Amino acid sequence: MRGRFITFEGGEGAGKSSNVQLVARFLRDHGAEVVVTREPGGTPLAEDIRNLLLAPRDEIMQADTELLLMFAARAQHVGALIEPALQRGAWVLSDRFVDASYAYQGGGRGLSMQRISALEELVLGGLKPDLTLLFDVPVEVGLARAGRRGDLDRIEQEDMAFFQRIRDTYLQRAEAEPQRFQVLNAAAPLQQVQEQLLGTLTRCWQQWSQP
Ligand code: TMP
Repeated sequence: MRGRFITFEGGEGAGKSSNVQLVARFLRDHGAEVVVTREPGGTPLAEDIRNLLLAPRDEIMQADTELLLMFAARAQHVGALIEPALQRGAWVLSDRFVDASYAYQGGGRGLSMQRISALEELVLGGLKPDLTLLFDVPVEVGLARAGRRGDLDRIEQEDMAFFQRIRDTYLQRAEAEPQRFQVLNAAAPLQQVQEQLLGTLTRCWQQWSQP
């Protein structure tokens, strides 16, 4: 049986990464093989592209360069890691995936959604997450949390308006595809977020682990 693909999305400081670990534990406790990965990155080559993308630099990176590097990393990630894992029946949990390109390069940078969708078709064919968990948090709250983590990378250095457009784009996408997206209020106390998350997962597990 083909595995399941769950993606974790949200703005900066939404708490995705610790929730990925919670979901991985839940699934492993239920006997599933779980592959935890992230974007940009997930393989050695894609992690090199991540470093290119996130390192602060004097030269301004063109928005198209950023978009194409995101998709170059994704092509490597899907071909070398995600697809083989799904084919052998593993559950793949990815901290960000293609929705981040629509939110950051489309919403944030203002690139055309049609061009992103053409790249999605080229690189992913029909591959779509089975479930996308959107950790939604007001921009001020998320940035305050992210700022506490220390040095900001190239993208984290953008202004509030950039992150507001990202949040709006994610929410629009969730509204357009309610079957795939589950929006979690990540501004709520951690325990409440985790309870909501485990409720969603229990339902998915029951539904998807039936032969
Ligand atoms: P992370 O900090 O959640 O690991 O993500 C790295 C940064 O890359 C984050 O600022 C979001 C950004 N990003 C994009 O701009 N487009 C994409 O397609 C992806 C996957 C991430």
